[in-house]
Amino acid sequence: MTRGRIKIAVNTGGGDAPGLNAVIYAVTLAADLRGWDVYGLRMGYLGLLDTDEIVHLTPDKVQGIVALGGTILGTTNKGNPFEMPVRNAVGDVEVRDVSDRVVENFKRLGLDVLVAIGGDGSLAIAHKFSQKGMPVVCVPKTIDNDLAATVITFGFDTAVSTATDAIDKLHSTASAHERVLVVEVMGRYAGWIALNAGVSGSADAILIPEIPFDIDAVSRRIGDNELRGKHYGIVVVAEGAVPKGGGRIHKGGGEEGRQEVVLGGVGEYVAKAIAERTGKDTRAIVLGHLQRGGSPTTFDRLLALRFGAAAVRMIAEGKRNVMVAHRPPGMVAVPIEDAIGKMKCVPLDSDSILTARETGVCLGD
Ligand code: F6P
Repeated sequence: MTRGRIKIAVNTGGGDAPGLNAVIYAVTLAADLRGWDVYGLRMGYLGLLDTDEIVHLTPDKVQGIVALGGTILGTTNKGNPFEMPVRNAVGDVEVRDVSDRVVENFKRLGLDVLVAIGGDGSLAIAHKFSQKGMPVVCVPKTIDNDLAATVITFGFDTAVSTATDAIDKLHSTASAHERVLVVEVMGRYAGWIALNAGVSGSADAILIPEIPFDIDAVSRRIGDNELRGKHYGIVVVAEGAVPKGGGRIHKGGGEEGRQEVVLGGVGEYVAKAIAERTGKDTRAIVLGHLQRGGSPTTFDRLLALRFGAAAVRMIAEGKRNVMVAHRPPGMVAVPIEDAIGKMKCVPLDSDSILTARETGVCLGD
């Protein structure tokens, strides 16, 4: 058990996800009740490089934030102190390791532990800091729901609800114009958002990264709608879906193994191919960052609050260098190194996949 007054730092890293503010709220309240202090770092780890903007988080400062999307602390997916792009004296960009400065500032400020709220990339950075003597407790975050160590992440339910709502709305336009509408959703290399929103939104076809798709099979399924008197079609495609025998479609990134690949464009590809094969008027819609926005659903709020409270509980129990994982019915601490780099894909025998197939949805195979 940890005794004495603890000074917790908290930051949010990577892409935002609905529920981040709820975690910050729970961390602040749960720490305050124990008589501890919480300091919010701005823009992920950058907050420990530029320490002027550190804010002492007290219950009054976090009032009313549970229902807010985004993060009051700001976030970045370009703030890795181990590989920081810095402009040198002649104006060229160099990649430098500035992690020592982060650790020095952490110690100088008398901080005891960092609650790092982030996805896989942030977890990997947190792990490296833990090895440099900066204690961390991680809270996993991603709308993609693709972290193997936890059954679910907050933000996912909100993203699926937003995508389902959009698909619902597209049915009427698709039907009125007798068009095929192809909806590209996020999720990186996992098909969770596409599958859950596609099944819930009564899509005709759902294309996920786990099942390389045959565009002829998808087009046949859309053509079959006509036989049933349905003159329109809805196709949901995950941004990471791959055509059979082809490569992943993306917009760039991935240079020198540093920048993340920016996915996108598969919706347009699918729409064009369906139009060529069926002759139907076909359009692509990219939902993009809409899926990360807005107020978290009740499910995500509660989940995020539980993650935040559990992080502080684990600190009180003396746990360090762990990630809070949801393993129903409770939360457990898993060593960070066991959590990083392990992706959770959609199992092909999962009940939602079976449900899709048994309700006539084409999964592209
Ligand atoms: O990981 C969350 C996510 O929204 C992915 O679904 C998507 O591929 C990526 O982030 C987009 O990142 P960015 O905000 O950098 O465009």
